[in-house]
Amino acid sequence: MKTKAAVMYEANKPLVVEVLDLEGPKEGEVLIKYTASGICHSDYSVVHGVLGGKVPMVLGHEGAGIVEAVGPGVTSLKPGDHVIAVLTPSCGTCWMCKENKPYMCSQMGKLMATGRMLNGETRFSKNGKPVYHMAGLGTFSEYSVIPEGSAVKVGNNAPLETVCLIGCGVTTGVGAAINTAGVHKGSSVAVIGCGGVGLSIIQGARINGAATIIAVDPMAEKRELAMSVGATHGVDPFAPDGPIKQVRALTGGLGVHYAFEALGRVDTIEQTWSMIRPAGRAIIVGMPDQKSKIKLGMAGILGEKRIKGSGYGSAHPKRDIPRFVDWYLDGQLKLDEMITKRIRLEDINRAFDEMGRAEGARSVIMY
Ligand code: CU
Repeated sequence: MKTKAAVMYEANKPLVVEVLDLEGPKEGEVLIKYTASGICHSDYSVVHGVLGGKVPMVLGHEGAGIVEAVGPGVTSLKPGDHVIAVLTPSCGTCWMCKENKPYMCSQMGKLMATGRMLNGETRFSKNGKPVYHMAGLGTFSEYSVIPEGSAVKVGNNAPLETVCLIGCGVTTGVGAAINTAGVHKGSSVAVIGCGGVGLSIIQGARINGAATIIAVDPMAEKRELAMSVGATHGVDPFAPDGPIKQVRALTGGLGVHYAFEALGRVDTIEQTWSMIRPAGRAIIVGMPDQKSKIKLGMAGILGEKRIKGSGYGSAHPKRDIPRFVDWYLDGQLKLDEMITKRIRLEDINRAFDEMGRAEGARSVIMY
């Protein structure tokens, strides 16, 4: 069949919106008609060569849609099911899945690194040449073929054009707060960076009952958005006192229980270490260059501070995705507030330009 998709041919060049060939689902795969896809900062990082990606590639990894067809051996899904596409295929057989950590499934790394399906092939092609899939999902396409485990069924009452955000940014952020950090009731939290992921961390902290939630972002508009979804204070890191002093001042001089970094920068990752109190936790959600190194003060180590990365919100998709959808439906999780714009696939390069200028929280492509 044919599908319209946005294809990356070269780093730092606009994506090309064109018609591709798409082969039907094989063993353990499903054909999805996407309803919508969010545009995530990791897509931007691939476009700008910061994160690797095989070209030509259909980008996009934050989609929701409807199952059109299933391949042989697929038992958990059928045509007509509403699904959210998730980053981990939760293969169930690798070591990490056996240790009940599907968010570290070794097949996920394979999908990301190779841009191919789990059996090594691609389903997208153009003039007989392979076109790769980002994360095995390729959500910047009207139709895509994805692994069965990467499609999590949700109720038909969930608006796919909104809950698509749960596929990446929301699960990454809410999960970092409730799963990775385990934010506790009455605690204090600082979040550096208030884009889609940062706003989701703030919501996870609120849902878990944090008493003080400090949003750190230089843009007044983002701090306001953060306050509207649950932050109790906003801090401009470029104000004369700097971010660390301001966060400490808001927590009796002691620092917060949990500081989250959602930008992926070495300097702000190091700041989290100074923002947390003794025995506090720094949780790193942003993705800087994988080869970079950070410096941590020894006094913090002796003060029992801990630092931990968060991968895909330490999420168990089959458990977490449906409950995040329920939280949206009952009003606890605010997603509409995070969607700045709804666009057509053809407008995707403009959306990336806006992202480069740090405008808005999330743009969503509607198919
Ligand atoms: Cu993402």
